[in-house]
Amino acid sequence: MPVNLRGRHVLTLADFSPSELRLLLRLAAELKAARLAGTERQLLRGRTIALIFEKDSTRTRTGFEVAAYDQGAHVTYLGPSGSQIGKKESIRDTARVLGRLYDAIEFRGYAQRDAEILAANAGVPVYNGLTDAFHPTQALADYMTMREFTHRHLSDLSVAFVGDVRNNVAMSLALAGVRLGVDVRLGGPRSLWPDAAQVAQLQAMGAETGGTLTLTEDPEEAVRGVDYIYTDVWLSMGEPEELWEERIRLLEPYRVTAALMGASGRPHTKFMHCLPALHNRDTEIGARIGERFGLDCMEVTEEVFEGRQSVVFDQAENRMHTIKAILVATIGS
Ligand code: CP
Ligand code: NVA
Repeated sequence: MPVNLRGRHVLTLADFSPSELRLLLRLAAELKAARLAGTERQLLRGRTIALIFEKDSTRTRTGFEVAAYDQGAHVTYLGPSGSQIGKKESIRDTARVLGRLYDAIEFRGYAQRDAEILAANAGVPVYNGLTDAFHPTQALADYMTMREFTHRHLSDLSVAFVGDVRNNVAMSLALAGVRLGVDVRLGGPRSLWPDAAQVAQLQAMGAETGGTLTLTEDPEEAVRGVDYIYTDVWLSMGEPEELWEERIRLLEPYRVTAALMGASGRPHTKFMHCLPALHNRDTEIGARIGERFGLDCMEVTEEVFEGRQSVVFDQAENRMHTIKAILVATIGS
């Protein structure tokens, strides 16, 4: 392979060149095909990986665990409670302990700075499994999925993220997108836009690859002509429940409905969501917030979520394949 990612951290995709990102996507596709064909070779046999989760997770945790098992590695899960992390022991000390026992560390937490401290002190690769700022492993799965649903090159694709456009998922989608030459649009209220310096930095990255980043407050303008319409929850993990009322007021115009899907003007436009999604009242939060505000769904309607344009479960599956590519590329034999 022309690009060597051995020993690298994955804290943000800003640290990866376009060819490194393409390498990871290609490797993920190869690993997925090998798993389906029953020809997967174990390149992580005997490796150990610590999984630190300060926040809840379904896909990221299971993605790391199954990727590790498939490849012959072992994992230890350290959840939001039950370890000393952050209570009696600093991130820096934890890094120095785990770095002696494990070949790599996954970290899901609040502060991006904590992921950086882990990386600076562990002496082994650290993977960001989501922080308040970024969700890099998600964005890799997102572009892998976009590739699977089109015959065109990524640099000929367009994606509109509508809703809370400055959140971790939107920022990583935009970052990877401009790096890969994609036409990325963010549609959301100005009060939730990323800060101007961050936008300028992303646009400058795009200038090198042909990728573009545009922002608008008009949801229909955001989605016009796009191949993919993406949304995420209106309130992320770690944000206070008191914000629901304001977020609903700000973001209701950006809900992904059949009408907004239609506003793309293209019959093949697909719907994407990192999940979990509040698309009905069948969850504790969906029921509680739904009852309080008289809403049957939040960021996406049940019709779109369950409809033929939705590729959300392909995205969820691809979390595992892309995480596996990261593991193989950074600590594989
Ligand atoms: N999309 C995602 O990261 O899901 P989990 O929170 O379930 O890991
Ligand atoms: N923005 C969401 C993503 C969950 C995968 C959150 O941080 O809660």
